Amino acid sequence: MKLFDVYPLFDINIVKGKGCQVWDEEGTQYLDLYGGHAVISIGHAHPHYVRKISEQVATLGFYSNSVINKLQVELAERLGKVSGYEEYQFFLINSGAEANENALKLASFYNGRTRILAAEKAFHGRTSLAVEATHNPKIIAPINANGHVTYLPLNDLSAWKSEIEKGDVCAVIIECIQGVGGIRMVTKDFLKGLRELCDKYNTVLICDEIQCGYGRSGKFFAHQHLGVKPDMITVAKGIANGFPMGGLLISPKFEPVYGQLGTTFGGNHLACSAALAVIDVMEEENLVENAAKVGNYLMDELKKFPQIKEVRGRGLMIGLEFDEPIKEIRTRLLKEQHVFTGVSGTNVIRLLPPLCLSMDEANEFLNRFRKLFA
Ligand SMILES: Cc1ncc(COP(=O)(O)O)c(C=O)c1O
Repeated sequence: MKLFDVYPLFDINIVKGKGCQVWDEEGTQYLDLYGGHAVISIGHAHPHYVRKISEQVATLGFYSNSVINKLQVELAERLGKVSGYEEYQFFLINSGAEANENALKLASFYNGRTRILAAEKAFHGRTSLAVEATHNPKIIAPINANGHVTYLPLNDLSAWKSEIEKGDVCAVIIECIQGVGGIRMVTKDFLKGLRELCDKYNTVLICDEIQCGYGRSGKFFAHQHLGVKPDMITVAKGIANGFPMGGLLISPKFEPVYGQLGTTFGGNHLACSAALAVIDVMEEENLVENAAKVGNYLMDELKKFPQIKEVRGRGLMIGLEFDEPIKEIRTRLLKEQHVFTGVSGTNVIRLLPPLCLSMDEANEFLNRFRKLFA
């Protein structure tokens, strides 16, 4: 059997990782400014993480959601504390799309409505409603095009207001820093305005923090830069440093109902031990503060490159927009300079390194980046 060929691949087989470095099967070492698509939060093969999940799988990898799982309870408590959302409730699933799917479903159970507002260029995942809320017709199959979603320009509050005040909007879903959309940032006034409108019209405000959350922006959540509390927050990617996991933080105004949400694998013992190890390391090594410090430094230095049209972002979520397509620059970074980076559209390079990126590694990246234009 062959693989179903949906991924355009670089011809590189990564077989080993350590911190912010990865190696291919020929032993070539790469600097990882991509984090496997913003997934590696505490660094590859962190010894504490390796120990915790090894011990857990040797004891109990999985049991079902029909019995008490104290690791889930501990994770909810720890995450509540570290993120500043102790009064919220936590539901665990296996991916980002599933987190958004469940958030939108819960919003609809809550207010009985079916209309969703999402931003132009938004990406929320590839399952049925998550993909419908994703502003990319190429990945919305006819079966997903059910007319639930209106896409509106980011930060254009009056456009969102005129939809929300119709009184039939179930939920607004928003990435405070758009990832796939090219590191475009929500403004404080816009999010505050959305919060007020959602309160007034009983619409649910959902922040998709799957890419921009979990410390990446230099605060635990990107929306915390904007001083607004959403009704639900979706997380995935960095939560378990590569172990598949997603989560949904739910405000106390939502009452849980037995059987309304559920999953086989979500919140299993092994996933929880991975997520707990991530929080241990984030606290022990001050990784949120590190993301802010190293990210600010990198952005300041990158702004000095005349070749870059605009540097955008917060913390270790950085977009470099060029006037021309970046395909050649990105390929040269990888092949000549051995640096992994991400991309958005045709003209934006995305930097999404592990949150443990050191100042030395940031400087090393800048040196290799400079060599491209020498
Ligand atoms: C903002 C955002 N939401 C949702 C998703 C979907 O997550 P997953 O691929 O884990 O389903 C992604 C993935 O890139 C994302 O960046």
